[in-house]
Amino acid sequence: MALPKSVKIVEVGPRDGLQNEAGVVPVEIKVEFCDRLSAAGFPNIEAAAFVSPRWVPQMATSAEVMARIARRPDTIYSALTPNLKGFEAALAARADEVVIFAAASEAFSQRNINCSIAESIDRFVPVAKAAKAAGIRLRGSISCALGCPYQGEVTPLAVADVVRRLKELGCDEIDIADTIGVATPAKTRAVFEACLREFPIERLSGHFHDTYGQAIGNIYASLELGISIFHSSTAGLGGCPYAKGATGNVATEDVLYLLAGLGIDTGIDLQQVVETGQWISRALGKVPISRAGNAISARKAA
Ligand code: HMG
Ligand code: MG
Repeated sequence: MALPKSVKIVEVGPRDGLQNEAGVVPVEIKVEFCDRLSAAGFPNIEAAAFVSPRWVPQMATSAEVMARIARRPDTIYSALTPNLKGFEAALAARADEVVIFAAASEAFSQRNINCSIAESIDRFVPVAKAAKAAGIRLRGSISCALGCPYQGEVTPLAVADVVRRLKELGCDEIDIADTIGVATPAKTRAVFEACLREFPIERLSGHFHDTYGQAIGNIYASLELGISIFHSSTAGLGGCPYAKGATGNVATEDVLYLLAGLGIDTGIDLQQVVETGQWISRALGKVPISRAGNAISARKAA
């Protein structure tokens, strides 16, 4: 199959990237991060999570962040909403899209959102109804779709089953997430092939973490199937608090470099993202880890 001509990148750095930071990240830094990203041309930024502050303290300032960012009309700002309480906060914060998040593994569902997969779907029913009533986009995310830190193997059929349930709730888009970054291209292909039988290909996305350095290979395998939405995090920030040892999302700079080389359009300015990646790494006191980002930065400095 021919590769897609254009791809939508959902930048998840401000949420997935920052949620695992141990130190408090000041609101000004979070706001500047979002504003630099929207200026670089991202069509969709996952900016907030309205979750229990006891479970994920780093996201406790989400309402303030959403209130202070400079909104761009062409950017969709998304927020995680595990229940109706989270949805109401997201609505008040003027989120353009809300994200319900389930797991393909029972063990991870319990650890991450304190309930079974079936209970989580029940909990999402009122969120989905409220999102539809408010005319807000609804996205569904499936964690541990390619492997689980507690249960190990997750079958493609188990993932496809959750896709079907999220489709029934009316999700506009569904994310297949490799929370712990264990997938290889063969597994990625098998899981997407099962999911494609349940949901339109143009509304399925790949959310890869890069723990084993396979994310770029997995994205290429997904592109070959025709997947055209990917999540990534500038500077490769991140990790899930409930998946010990898992590293961040694939770095946006690396994904943009891959796509540019394939002649696939994203509408995003790679140079601006590289500068943002270097800036946020410095602001967090981290060594920047995007390979493409560091190479482009070094070339510019030379
Ligand atoms: P629970 O303790 O079972 O919930 O948590 P509860 O209903 O019994 O409420 C307990 C307390 O939390 C109460 O407060 C509620 O008011 C409060 P108290 O009365 O004790 O003071 N509460 C809330 N506060 C703020 N916002 C809310 C909210 N809901 C309840 N929305 C719950 C259940 C789902 C709330 C909890 O487990 C939770 O917040 N989990 C979030 C976990 C999380 O954010 N994980 C990371 C994001 S998922 C991820 O990273 C994966 C992804 O990137 C894809 C991938 O890579 O896999 C998306
Ligand atoms: Mg994630």
